[in-house]
Order: sequence, then structure tokens, then C-alpha cells
Amino acid sequence: MVAEQQTLVTFFGATGDLAKRLLYPSVFNLYKKGFLQEHFAIVGTARQEISTAEYRDMVYTAIEGDQDKERAAAFIEHFSYCASDVTEAAGYHALREAIEAASAKFGVQGNRIFYMSVAPRFFGTIAQYLKSEGLLADQGYNRIMIEKPFGTSYDTAAALQNELENAFDENQLYRIDHFLGKEMVLNIAPIRFGNPLLKAAWNKDYIKNVQVTLAETLGVEERAGYYDTAGALLDMFQNHAMQIVGWLAMEEPSSFTDTAIREAKNAAFNALQVYTPEEVARYFVRGQYGPGKEAGHVAYTEEPDVPADSKTNTYIAGELHFDTPRWAGVPFYVRSGKRLEKKTTRIDVVFKAGSFDFGNGQKSAETVLTIEVSPEEKVTLSLNAKAVADDFETRTIDLGWTPSASEKAAIPAPYERMLHDAMDGDGSNFADWNGVATAWKVTDAVSQTYAADQAPLEIYESDTMGPKAADDLLAKNGDTWVFRG
Ligand code: BG6
Repeated sequence: MVAEQQTLVTFFGATGDLAKRLLYPSVFNLYKKGFLQEHFAIVGTARQEISTAEYRDMVYTAIEGDQDKERAAAFIEHFSYCASDVTEAAGYHALREAIEAASAKFGVQGNRIFYMSVAPRFFGTIAQYLKSEGLLADQGYNRIMIEKPFGTSYDTAAALQNELENAFDENQLYRIDHFLGKEMVLNIAPIRFGNPLLKAAWNKDYIKNVQVTLAETLGVEERAGYYDTAGALLDMFQNHAMQIVGWLAMEEPSSFTDTAIREAKNAAFNALQVYTPEEVARYFVRGQYGPGKEAGHVAYTEEPDVPADSKTNTYIAGELHFDTPRWAGVPFYVRSGKRLEKKTTRIDVVFKAGSFDFGNGQKSAETVLTIEVSPEEKVTLSLNAKAVADDFETRTIDLGWTPSASEKAAIPAPYERMLHDAMDGDGSNFADWNGVATAWKVTDAVSQTYAADQAPLEIYESDTMGPKAADDLLAKNGDTWVFRG
């Protein structure tokens, strides 16, 4: 039996797309699983003037795919709505009353979560008003969940952190990176630390390189306003890719707790080389999609609302180096792009080839541990083995595991997991300030070089795996991308 959580969640941006598409269905799943039962309440707030009845209808529609009408009806009773202008102190007074009323009605003793699904410029303002206008519970916990992006550079992120710290402690902040909530990203730790065989080999003596690929087939869609200021570097690399790299590169944590995990990750991040502009030109490739063969796949600069002279990177590939004894000389290759040939998030750990000669010059091949994160979930380890043939010949074989259909169905969506963990007070799968700050320092070096136009912009054909320069990046070290589309 799952222990019931007592909690009151206030959703800022309650009428928005994210709330409807991902947040309400996730809360409903937590309710169906019994993690939330009677003692929980949701207060939605946004600018829009709607009634609680209309809000409940909105939530009902958001979870409508669900067959259990009776349960859905009981669930939405826990929701109430209060319109507010988050930039005015006065806007918080009615909200405070709504929160207190909902708390009393469902017997929630303290335990408040404030979820910011609003434009990033409001994060700091809301946090300050929550405190100054008395919306925080005086018993139990008060936690803030913050959507990305957390700043647009180290300086802006530090300014935001400062504003948040005026009202909250670091351990009350839950910075969302939904890649950290993905089942197969969570599989990195048990695979690395739970198998002495891999644990012993997880270093420069056995690993040739590590590859992280976050490839998408979608183009910019209707998000040019945001995306053209971010590009793949800020949209995917600074946060999602870096957080995955953190799990792969960290030392073994002293215990499997959020503080120890973050401490180990941060130590790795702090050992990352921050590049000069010349090094950026050498270790990073920026690309932008040109037209593709598929109908409607126009060049990025011809997409709606994209300036015709935009130099925004829709593709980024980088070679990272950690100054640690474990990783000396081992490149971590990271790439992410839009309008690529395949949608895939995957990790390929390439092990060094053995030197044994099987005769006739036959040597072993490099072996690879692949973790496919999405859309397929799969772990594969390739091994050298004998080919089925009369003569003695070697080949590589794959040992693979993929979750069964019932296991797949049981995998919580990343937002469900993150809401669950924030209610549970488990920060393991959230990015902390130290990690975010370092990721920004590494990223700033690259984005500043691009802002000054000190590196070439490679135009790649849509529906391919990106610019050739990204292959050359690896080729100069004698490496190749394991995943080639
Ligand atoms: C988001 C980015 O954070 O992640 C999007 O803003 C991107 O541009 C998305 O498409 C990818 O996430 P997923 O889970 O669909 O791989």
C-alpha cells in the first residue's frame, strides 16, 4: 500500500498548455496510485478570469482519456481556481485565502508546493511575493518547482538564484529537467554502480569515448520566439545533455541520497574544461538546418517568425573533457539537433578494443554499452564472439534488454515522477544550483563565441544526421558516432 501524501500544490500558469498536457494527467496518476488520496488540494492560478467550476472542467478535459469517470469526478473536486496578477502584491491576497481555504477543506497540514509553469521572468518575482505576502505554510514544508530555462547565461541564472535565495533555501528549490525523470536515465546509476564488472571498467583505462545523442526530427514548430534566442545549445545542451553527462561522469556517490548524488555530480561538473574561443571552434560544431527532401521541410531561416539572417544553432555537437584522473584523455561527445533523420535519445559508451590477435590479423572490435532512453527503451552490450562459420572468425554480438509491454505501461511519465519526488522531498532527480551554475559556465564560453560569430555555422540538410563537421570532430581523434541514423 502506497503511503498517502498530504500536500497542497499551487500551479502558477494553471491554464497553460504544459499544465493541461502534462501536469494534470500526472497528478491524476498519482491519485490513481494512491500516493494522493483525500488530503491533497490543488489551487490553480493564472491571469485568466475563470470560475472554479470552469477550471475543474478544464482539468477534467485534460484527463479525459481516462475511463474511470467516477474517480475523475472525485479527483477534480480537489481543485479550485483563483485568478491573479503575479506582478502585484495585491494579487496574492486572494490566492492566500484560496490556499488556506483549500488546506482547511482537505485537512492538509502545511506542506505546500508552488509550481511555476510561467514565463521565466516571473520566477523571482513570484518567489519573493510568496514570502512577503504570507503564502508559505508555517508548518510542514514549502517547496518551489521551477520550469526551465533557469537563466539564459551564468549571470542571468545567478541573478535569478539570488532572487530565489532571498525567499527560499536551496533545498526548497526543485529545478525541473524532465530528462532526469526519464526511466532509462535513471538506469545509468544501477548499471554503472551495481555491476562490479562495469564499475571496474568505467574509466580511461577501458573507455575510449562516451557519446550522448539527443536527436529530434521535429523542426522549430511555432516556438521561434523562444527558440531563436536559445538554439540547441541553450535548449538542450546546457540542461538535458549536461545532466545526462553528469550521471555518466560522476564518481561513485558516498550514498544513494540526493545530497550525495548531487555532490558527486557537481564535483564532476567542476572538473569540466571551460573552453577559450579558439577551443570552442575546435571542440564544438554549430549547425542550422537547411531544407530537406520531405514536403514542408524548409530551411530554418524560412520557418515562420525566424529572422532570415538568423544564425541560431539548431544543432550542436561538442567534445567535453574532464580534468579528473578517471577521465584524463577520454572525450565525451555530445550532440543535439532538430530536423534530424531520427528521433532518439541515447548514450553509447565505447570501450577500447582488445589487442589479442586471433590469427590472420583478426583483432577484437571495440565494444559498446548502449542505453536507449527514448523513444525506445533498451540496454545493449556488444561483445566480441565467434562467428558461426567453419573457419575461426570473430564478430560482435549484442546482448540486449528492453522492458516488457507491461513494464513499459508502468513507467511513470517524467512529470509524474518529478511531482512525486518533490512531494516526497527527494531532490535526486532535480538540478541543483552548483550543477546549473557550472553547466552555464561551460555553455557561456560557447554561446559567447557564437554571439561574436567566431566559429563557422554549418548548414545541414534536414532529415539527415547533421553536418559533416560533427563527424570530422570525432574523426580527428580516430572516433566515429556509434549511432548513424
Ligand atoms: C524540451 C525542449 O526541453 O525538450 C524541446 O525545449 C525539445 O525543444 C524537448 O523538443 C525534447 O524532449 P523529449 O522528452 O520529447 O525528448
